[in-house]
Amino acid sequence: MSAPLRPVLAGNWKMNLGPAEAARFFGEFLAVWQPRDDRSVVFFPPAVSFAASREAVRARHDVRLGLQNVHWEAGGAFTGETSAGMAAEAGAELVLVGHSERRWVFGETTDETVKKVRAVLDAGLVPVLCVGEKIEERRAGRQDEVVRAQLAPVLQAVSLDEARSLVVAYEPVWAIGTGVNATPQDAGAMHAFVRAELAARYGHETAAAIPILYGGSVKPDNAAALLSVEGVDGVLVGGASLDPHGFAKICAA
Ligand code: PGA
Repeated sequence: MSAPLRPVLAGNWKMNLGPAEAARFFGEFLAVWQPRDDRSVVFFPPAVSFAASREAVRARHDVRLGLQNVHWEAGGAFTGETSAGMAAEAGAELVLVGHSERRWVFGETTDETVKKVRAVLDAGLVPVLCVGEKIEERRAGRQDEVVRAQLAPVLQAVSLDEARSLVVAYEPVWAIGTGVNATPQDAGAMHAFVRAELAARYGHETAAAIPILYGGSVKPDNAAALLSVEGVDGVLVGGASLDPHGFAKICAA
């Protein structure tokens, strides 16, 4: 599956909105958001709300759905986990991998993100690889080094051919859920750095085609400014994606 058309407006609901709330959300969102062929709208509901979400968007092929996480194995004795193949069967088109909450709350390692990206690609889905530095790393001026270390092993495991299915999300950890978004300058600088890393691996043409999203305290009132930054191909929105009207404003930005 190819990466979605840019700009990509993505909502990560995290551990919010059960099946009934998901259905209610889409009832309100789809009433105010009309299909547009110049951008992609994607939601990452909790796994238990996936079926209800899919049912709610059944008539709207402009809205894509993904899972927030998968395990790298195809199946077996892994209590509480979901495989990429199951995600595909359920109708997911994308999967978040390496979100900072997976890395820093649940201890997910970069090696595990590599295995998950492989599993997602092997299932024919689009991995949205999340990278980003912590505040102390930025204060120490180490943000490029940290993001390179998160990105490089994944890129080594993804072929040139597969790179057209890849999406990267730059989410500085200090901007997630804090109300402090990266400045357009900081976001622009990091997106340029990520693009250069992609170009070093895949060449400029392929690197230019890989969407790089910004995430971290994106709101209706700052989305347009962030989306207008050179190299920002979309946004990954947490808290503000829970409000159907607010998120529709972000999608229109
Ligand atoms: P936030 O989360 O928009 O609530 O900061 C973003 C994310 O974690 O993807």
